[in-house]
Amino acid sequence: SQRTLVILKPDAVRRGLIGEIIGRIERKAGWTIPAMELRTLDQETLETHYGEHKGKPFYEPLMGFMASGPVVVLVAEGERVIEGVRQLAGPTDPIAAAPGSIRGDFGTIVRENLIHASDSEESAERELKIFFPGLV
Ligand code: GTP
Ligand code: MG
Repeated sequence: SQRTLVILKPDAVRRGLIGEIIGRIERKAGWTIPAMELRTLDQETLETHYGEHKGKPFYEPLMGFMASGPVVVLVAEGERVIEGVRQLAGPTDPIAAAPGSIRGDFGTIVRENLIHASDSEESAERELKIFFPGLV
C-alpha cells in the first residue's frame, strides 16, 4: 500500500472542519492514519514544501496564509491513497470542484482550499520526509 502527506490548511482548522475532513479519509475502506499532529508551520518548512511554486504570483500570499494559524499534518496510508485523497479533495479551484469533494463542498477561494495532498509517489516521498522525518 501507499502513504501520502495531507495538510488540513488553516482555513479548515479555523472553520472547525477537522473532524469532517478526517472523517472522509477515515471512512475509506482499509485506509489508516499512522501519524497526525496539530502544528503551526514555519517559513522554512513552507518554503521547502512549496518550493516548486516560488516566483509565481500566488506564492507569497500562499506562504502567508499557510503560516496564519495551526494546521493538521497527517499521514494517510492504504490502497491507492495518493490518488484517492486527491480525488476526495477535488481540483485546486473550489468553484471548479464538484460537490461531494472536500473543496467542492466547503471552499470558494482558490488559496483557501482547505486541504493539501501529495500529488504523486515522488511528492509523497519528499513531503513525508519534510513533515514526519522520524516516521518508520
Ligand atoms: P496543494 O495540495 O496545496 O499543493 O494544492 P494543489 O496541488 O491542488 O495546487 P498547487 O500545488 O498547484 O498549488 C498549491 C496551492 O497554491 C493551492 O492549493 C492553492 O492554495 C494555491 N494556488 C494555486 N494556484 C493558485 C492560483 O492561481 N491563485 C491563487 N490565489 N492560489 C493558487
Ligand atoms: Mg500541489
